[in-house]
Amino acid sequence: MPTTQIWDPERYARNARFVSDLGAPVVELLAPRAGERILDLGCGDGVLTAKLSEMGCDVIGVDASVAQVEATKRLGIEARLVDAEHLGFNAEFDAVFSNAALHWMRHPDEVIDGVWQALRDGGRFVAEMGGYGCVQTIKHALIQALNRRGIDGQAADPWYFPTVEDYSARLTARGFSMNSIALIPRPTPLPGDATAWLETFAQSFSATLPPNERAAYQAEVQEALRPKLCDSQGKWTADYVRLRFSASKK
Ligand code: BEZ
Repeated sequence: MPTTQIWDPERYARNARFVSDLGAPVVELLAPRAGERILDLGCGDGVLTAKLSEMGCDVIGVDASVAQVEATKRLGIEARLVDAEHLGFNAEFDAVFSNAALHWMRHPDEVIDGVWQALRDGGRFVAEMGGYGCVQTIKHALIQALNRRGIDGQAADPWYFPTVEDYSARLTARGFSMNSIALIPRPTPLPGDATAWLETFAQSFSATLPPNERAAYQAEVQEALRPKLCDSQGKWTADYVRLRFSASKK
């Protein structure tokens, strides 16, 4: 199922700033050193890429969204429009870094192979992505509301949320040595309501409907989620689970 997700940097900044704000642990795991050449895989709007640059790294961001590549360039960071499943770099990076992007990539072995090719010997692949069970409450409500409309909701699911065993097996099969890997539940307070999150991240589901039915679909999903994800003050929390890992090419 190809994703029909469209990234709008302004909406992303409004509804998804937490994605880069909560990126500190994976940057810490990367432990970037000044002068290192680093590829930011799925750089989004470039906010974390710019942070790596401020830390003295020679960094390039790649993303599959033209709008996000342009947003990254506006921060003064080199960025390229690249399909992560066909990276095309050759032994030129000390590290490949990725935050909140790999779960959008449905052919993980192609991605891992491209990362392997992009790294120098001894280079590291350090990333955080949605892990097994991520947003399962939200996903269930999205699928159920499509099924009720006679549409196969499961087929609209754009995400790959692997287990520790799945992703580490893929990395080691390609030759990586695992330094660490863990599944980390991280309930995530949202800046807006569930509908704002759905509009930002769950377009693949609503895209199966005619445009004039999408608002009602999202409202129905939000009401299904309210008892589970919204507190008495009206604050929404998404049931995120992260998969965070560090692996080395050695
Ligand atoms: C995540 O960053 O974990 C995520 C993003 C979009 C949808 C689901 C999960």
